[in-house]
Amino acid sequence: MESRNIRLAVIPGDGIGAEVVAEGLKVLEAVGTKIEPTHYDLGAARYHRTGETLPDAVLEELRGYDAILLGAVGDPSVPPGVLERDLLLRLRFAFDHYVNLRPVKLFPGVPSPLAGSSADDIDMIVVREGTEGLYAGTGGVMRRGTLHEIATQESLNTAHGVERVVRYAFEKARSRPRKKLTLVHKTNVLTYAGDLWQRTVDRVAGEYPEVATDYAHIDAASMFFVSQPERFDVVVTDNLFGDIITDLGAAIAGGIGLAASGNINPERTAPSMFEPVHGSAPDIAGQGKADPTATILSVAMLLDHLGLHTEAARVEQAVAADIVERRPGRGTHEIGDDITARVSG
Ligand code: NAI
Ligand code: MG
Repeated sequence: MESRNIRLAVIPGDGIGAEVVAEGLKVLEAVGTKIEPTHYDLGAARYHRTGETLPDAVLEELRGYDAILLGAVGDPSVPPGVLERDLLLRLRFAFDHYVNLRPVKLFPGVPSPLAGSSADDIDMIVVREGTEGLYAGTGGVMRRGTLHEIATQESLNTAHGVERVVRYAFEKARSRPRKKLTLVHKTNVLTYAGDLWQRTVDRVAGEYPEVATDYAHIDAASMFFVSQPERFDVVVTDNLFGDIITDLGAAIAGGIGLAASGNINPERTAPSMFEPVHGSAPDIAGQGKADPTATILSVAMLLDHLGLHTEAARVEQAVAADIVERRPGRGTHEIGDDITARVSG
């Protein structure tokens, strides 16, 4: 374990972001890490006050941290996409977060909407590519607002970008008991990109003889997530498919209040960023109703990434124990306090 303080940049963001991040930090403190948090005021309020989303100087300052904890950004008062694209996506691209890691795990005691599914059936991890695909922002528009408008949005897939995320997924699969990797794509229709992904998986598979590989089209995978979730161990997929299928994953594993994620720069050339999968939930913001568990599980992923594996496991165990004894009607603070007590106790 490192002896120096871990420098953590905290971006609470909008809506319930600040509420859930406060609970995440409480748990971080309780687990006994030497964390030095610095808060950054980014999101809707800053945008309205100054017109800024992510100033270049702030981006460069953030680069110097060991990790970033983010709540959520987005607010109905800001045009859609401004904060998501200019803040969130910009951070992911600038810091080369080419792995978006999203565990889909049903904790014992959590009811899944899938009748008959138990914790043994739903335990997978989605490795979503984070810097390319349809989210790369290439394309354009002509004759906007006319009958002859043309809009294109291209999916960018590079040999380098695909290979590095596929390698990460194979490493992940090798470290897990089942050692199974499923490529999810749409190779039958998206033939150029699909071919690159499939060939890359086939080639890298040669270096991982102990990992079993499988393939599913995105539409079939969506069905199997619901009908046969036990099929999946590690899933590797592109940016858009990964975004969509992990919401489905969150739904089958107990809901968006529990879904954690990490935007990872595996080479550690820039800080990785950890955040709940959910957004700023304007419908429940300010009411103390948000479940902070997804953020607390993201904190566990953060600790793990920083090499604090014992602390990470303690946080995850505290969450698991809390979930088993979950009583209805608890608010954000109560859930945070209950998990904090288990971590310190
Ligand atoms: P959302 O995830 O904020 O909310 C969807 C539904 O889930 C709402 O009914 C909400 O109340 C509920 N919910 C979300 N988190 C919860 C929690 N921790 N506990 C209990 N219930 C929870 O998604 P929505 O409504 O589509 O987006 C709201 C805003 O958030 C938009 O501006 C959107 O762009 C932004 N957003 C930001 C993300 C991020 O910062 N990474 C991710 C997703 C959306
Ligand atoms: Mg999403």
